[in-house]
Amino acid sequence: MATKDKLLELLSSSSSHVSGEWISQQLGISRTAVWKAVNRLKQDGYAIESVSNRGYKLVGCSEWITEEGVLLALKSDDFFEKVFVYDTVDSTNNELKRLHMTTAFHSALAIAEEQTAGKGRRGRSWSSVKGDGLWMSLLLKPEIPPYKAPVLTLVAGLAVCEAIEGATGLEAGIKWPNDIVVEGRKVCGILTEMSAEIETVNYVVIGIGINVNQEAFDASLKEMAVSLRMLTGKPLDRMQLLSSFTAHFKRRYAQFLRTKDLVGMLDDYQKRCINIGKPLKILWPEETVEGRGLAVSPSGELVVETDAGVVKIASGEVSVRGIYGYTE
Ligand code: BTN
Repeated sequence: MATKDKLLELLSSSSSHVSGEWISQQLGISRTAVWKAVNRLKQDGYAIESVSNRGYKLVGCSEWITEEGVLLALKSDDFFEKVFVYDTVDSTNNELKRLHMTTAFHSALAIAEEQTAGKGRRGRSWSSVKGDGLWMSLLLKPEIPPYKAPVLTLVAGLAVCEAIEGATGLEAGIKWPNDIVVEGRKVCGILTEMSAEIETVNYVVIGIGINVNQEAFDASLKEMAVSLRMLTGKPLDRMQLLSSFTAHFKRRYAQFLRTKDLVGMLDDYQKRCINIGKPLKILWPEETVEGRGLAVSPSGELVVETDAGVVKIASGEVSVRGIYGYTE
């Protein structure tokens, strides 16, 4: 670990000022080296107060995504074997898939300040402007058959809701299967991809885009999309959100691995699923079917009551009345 990362760890674990002398003893470095490391952290955007006779105190996190900030947010956890932090990348999903071809790893997190070709579902693009959001992907290797992989979108969605609620107090809902919605607009989208054989999953990449600090969206998106900043009226610390998300995700993922389905979290999931009890349309390629959301099954399907009877949908587009401009 670089000296500035060790210093950041020390400063963030202390709620009051710590002297340069104490830091130099803890890290086994000279006072000059302490001073240099403090300056490096300041250059990375960390606000560090220095008061004579009292020492240094971390008063603000970097507004940029830095490797040390991400590692700190993950709390030296080894849930992810590899962590990749980018200033710019085409897509964190693509990047993890590429990296995995050259170096195999069991689990990884990739996070970028900006994506130049962020991908949404169904071939759509995902706007991922610098500094505005949490654009990240998780690569995992659960021992599950491929047909169970879509449930991981739901697991991640639940963890995103919990993190958003913890960080902002806002009530976050899930528009099954992959949108996180607050006050009727989308704050997060999830794109899960996988590499698999007929019976086994090689790996799953869960791509998560959370709109955090945008101040506005252009005309094409503003009816549908919103950021946490627009909802709360203040900018949010993305690393705090990342930290909270990973903690919730770890717990939910462990629950998933126990039964390989949603059983351990079904009540929590259903409480947040905004499709339940609402009129909705299932947008199948060949036809659109109207119905009402009844439940989410333990294996993650949306159960819908239609004129032709109760159907279970495993994936696909569903539009919910009252959300994103579907009104009639
Ligand atoms: C959707 O709602 O259509 C899914 C959007 C998923 C966006 C995220 S941002 C991080 C990751 N990298 C990508 O290219 N896409 C996902």
